[in-house]
Amino acid sequence: MYKVKSIHKRLISRLFIGWIVISIAAGTIVFFIKLEEIDDFVKKLASVESRSIIDDEQVYIYSSDPQDKEYLTQILTEHIEKGHFIIVEVYDKNKEKRAEVLSPGSVKLDEYLKSIEMKKVTRHFTDEVIYNRIYFEKRIYLQVFVPLFDDSSKLIGYFEGVYHVDDNTMDDIKRIILFALLQIVVAVLATTIILYPIIMSMNKDLIKYSIELSEANVGILEALGGAIAKRDSDTHSHNYRVTIYAVRLADALGLDSETICSLIKGSFLHDAGKIAISDNILLKPDKLTEEEFSIMKTHVKHGVDIIGKNAWLQDAVDVVHYHHEKYDGTGYMSALKGHDIPLRARIFAIVDVFDALTSKRPYKEPFSYEKTMEILKQSRGSHFDPEILDVFFSISNDLYGEISKGDDAVLMHTLDRLINKYF
Ligand SMILES: [Fe+2]
Repeated sequence: MYKVKSIHKRLISRLFIGWIVISIAAGTIVFFIKLEEIDDFVKKLASVESRSIIDDEQVYIYSSDPQDKEYLTQILTEHIEKGHFIIVEVYDKNKEKRAEVLSPGSVKLDEYLKSIEMKKVTRHFTDEVIYNRIYFEKRIYLQVFVPLFDDSSKLIGYFEGVYHVDDNTMDDIKRIILFALLQIVVAVLATTIILYPIIMSMNKDLIKYSIELSEANVGILEALGGAIAKRDSDTHSHNYRVTIYAVRLADALGLDSETICSLIKGSFLHDAGKIAISDNILLKPDKLTEEEFSIMKTHVKHGVDIIGKNAWLQDAVDVVHYHHEKYDGTGYMSALKGHDIPLRARIFAIVDVFDALTSKRPYKEPFSYEKTMEILKQSRGSHFDPEILDVFFSISNDLYGEISKGDDAVLMHTLDRLINKYF
């Protein structure tokens, strides 16, 4: 059944969307957690390395001797060559710069950092250690600000360094994050695969009841449509045929299954209001008088009264209410024109007249296919929507051959197939 397939499809697509959303959300959380962990790891490394520079050099920070200042620069240069710091600056307690050393190749980064610092109101001359993570040209750097104290905890100056996260550490970071993301994606996928049969089995009874309910609804639809057909005809054939024609035309127009379902309901019940028309008018073999015809026209309103309050039949109202409207606005009861007439009613109007012309009625023999086509063509743009009629012409020959001569059993079988496909 179409609905069961659609439940499977919807469940799979929703689980898939759920999988993607959870993977992205969990992946993002893991990414930031790992980034924090990596930050801590790099901070520790940077802290150890900066501490070793400071311990060696603190004696030269106070000294005003130019030779000491030069020596400080020289030692800082050696540290830069051996370690991971690529820029180091040392300030005395009065925030005066005592030494600055840049590794080769870090000039651009230094300019970038200075451009950022220019925008800041104050520098980081505080009593606390401060770290800043910096992304520059696809690399991670850690800027460290460390206040320097002597052994008696007296402030003697400040250290500022830029720590470069080397390629090996970067590769490790990428590997850790990728692995964590992969774990998340696989775990969520496995959960989704396990959940699918569980959800389906939980829904099995629900699906079964809903299929039974749907079949019962369609059965009532057929019974009600049949009851109406029986009033002015010996068989259900007209109802069956117009429903099949309407579905085939809607299919040729490329309409979705929801619209086709509503067309099936509307086709079955299009003349439901004829129940309210008295026999002497409904079954009159002669031409109706003007007054009788105006009573006959009211069957569309009676039809809406009968089905209009039923929620499941709401989408059949378009066909029931407007199937006698004409494209040029000369139809009844609302005299709607062109595309103001609902699409389903414009479709149905064509197949209803096609069937009326090609089948036997108490007052006439069936018209030939050629004569029927001629009459329809004459009403192109006046009674019928010209575009829909053109599509109908492309399938009418097949429909005439396959359906118009079929007996009730053949028609019922064809209709059952269509109902199973769309409901
Ligand atoms: Fe009608």
